[in-house]
Amino acid sequence: MSGNSVWWKEAIVYQVYPKSFYDSDGDGIGDLPGIIAKLDVLQQLGVDVIWLNPVYVSPEVDNGYDISDYQAINPKFGTMADFEHLLAEAHRRGLRVIMDLVVNHTSDQHEWFHESRTTRENAYRDYFIWRDPVNGREPNNWAGHFTQSAWSFDDATGQYYLHIFSPQQPDLNWENPAVRQEVQRIMAWWLAKGIDGFRLDAINLIAKAPGLPDNRGDGRYIFSIENFCNQPRFHDYLREMNHAVLAQQDVLTVGECAALTVDDAIAVSAPDRHELNMAFLFEHTDYYNTVGKDPQKLKEILTRWQVGLHGRGWVGLAFNNHDQPRVVSCFGDDTRYREESAKLFATLLLTLEGTPFLFQGEEIGMTNAVYATIEEYNDVGTVNLYREQVAAGADPQVVFERVRATSRDRGRSPYQWDGSADAGFTTGIPWIGVNPNHVAVNLQENLDDPDSIFHYYRRMIALRKATPALVYGRFEAVPAPDALFVYRRIGDEGSCLVVLNLSEESVEFAAEGTLLIGTHAQPEKNRLQPYEARVYRE
Ligand code: GLC
Repeated sequence: MSGNSVWWKEAIVYQVYPKSFYDSDGDGIGDLPGIIAKLDVLQQLGVDVIWLNPVYVSPEVDNGYDISDYQAINPKFGTMADFEHLLAEAHRRGLRVIMDLVVNHTSDQHEWFHESRTTRENAYRDYFIWRDPVNGREPNNWAGHFTQSAWSFDDATGQYYLHIFSPQQPDLNWENPAVRQEVQRIMAWWLAKGIDGFRLDAINLIAKAPGLPDNRGDGRYIFSIENFCNQPRFHDYLREMNHAVLAQQDVLTVGECAALTVDDAIAVSAPDRHELNMAFLFEHTDYYNTVGKDPQKLKEILTRWQVGLHGRGWVGLAFNNHDQPRVVSCFGDDTRYREESAKLFATLLLTLEGTPFLFQGEEIGMTNAVYATIEEYNDVGTVNLYREQVAAGADPQVVFERVRATSRDRGRSPYQWDGSADAGFTTGIPWIGVNPNHVAVNLQENLDDPDSIFHYYRRMIALRKATPALVYGRFEAVPAPDALFVYRRIGDEGSCLVVLNLSEESVEFAAEGTLLIGTHAQPEKNRLQPYEARVYRE
């Protein structure tokens, strides 16, 4: 392995969305004993780290991203003893566990907020961001992520509080040193329990622009992150956190940082900055999830990040997560070329520089879930937007089509274990509908078929682990026809050539080398089939 080998650069992370993973007690909701029951298959896949979406006590307005007790487990998921058991069982199999740290905001049911809202003068008032009305209205024009305004008025004390997300997720006031110390205390408490790191939720939103100025633009509410994203103080807070808690620990820290440029990512992840190990790369998913599928743009974005970050910073790479649609549905082809395109994205994910993050279900080619009525949706963003727009007089059917095209529930449907009723996820009534395609798309089918997507991921993961160039090597784009993405990873011990056909056409291309892995059983020497992917040793 290269001179400076680092475990979290070599690790493959698997994201478990506990609510939709496996239900052990028949209440329709996945739980911690359910995760324990399935650890063997994760070990078989070859991943190294499990990232758990929030499992803390929460009223679940935003599926656990509204925490009311940071040091207790949501009884729907189990007990603290179950959590400790999960940690021990994971560690016994060589799997590490990282937790989701949601500290841009709490739940409005957290005791800090209960206290905070009682009077204007109390020890917790300043834990949150309270402001007087301006001309009888909100203190500024910031729009919220899940509501029109980012402010809600509280009758009890006659002030507004800030919530970048839903009104039930009040933003913490990071300018208050007491808040920062509470967060550090909570982090240290979990680390002392033996967890292996954190995914830091919405972390580059914690610092707000001094004075909370209006966003630019006309209109009552302006949706923009200009005044609360990547503010300079954000870096001060991370460095303080690093110094106080992380510096002495060999843990994985990954920041969920919206709207990050290459330079911003370096500022967060360069080792000499002492902030985090890595930030997630979102520019590529943001592009294809909003603008649409565009192979040229995907190549341009990934190339720019690979070249710009090498030797300077580190990213977490993903094509799927709980907030996004499944890549096989929105960039691949989830009908005719489902297997091929799922395997192509496995190849891309596992041959780039950056720590790969898999989202549960991608390793079996799960596709976007689509539901027939608004009642079947759960995502707070979807439901709030629908309610607000219908209340404002819009046609409910038009609004429904609009919100379901962006709903985060597309990727949150229950894991498809087998072809039985409700995919073997639960014996009860699932909290959200199971995708009907589970009859054909499920883990059992994948395990039984040596050419399945699961076994391809398993082989691709093994290849990455055996090939230092795929972890540490320098990226170099290779000129190729538009439909193809071709690049090298050049390492100390040799280089690999990766050839990907991002289109539904067959494309001529001559590649040389020893074929290490490929998506197609009988590759043609000078031609790639739709969504064909290959990795060569040169
Ligand atoms: C992050 C989470 C998302 C959540 C939001 C608010 O973006 O990934 O699921 O709704 O933060 O906590």
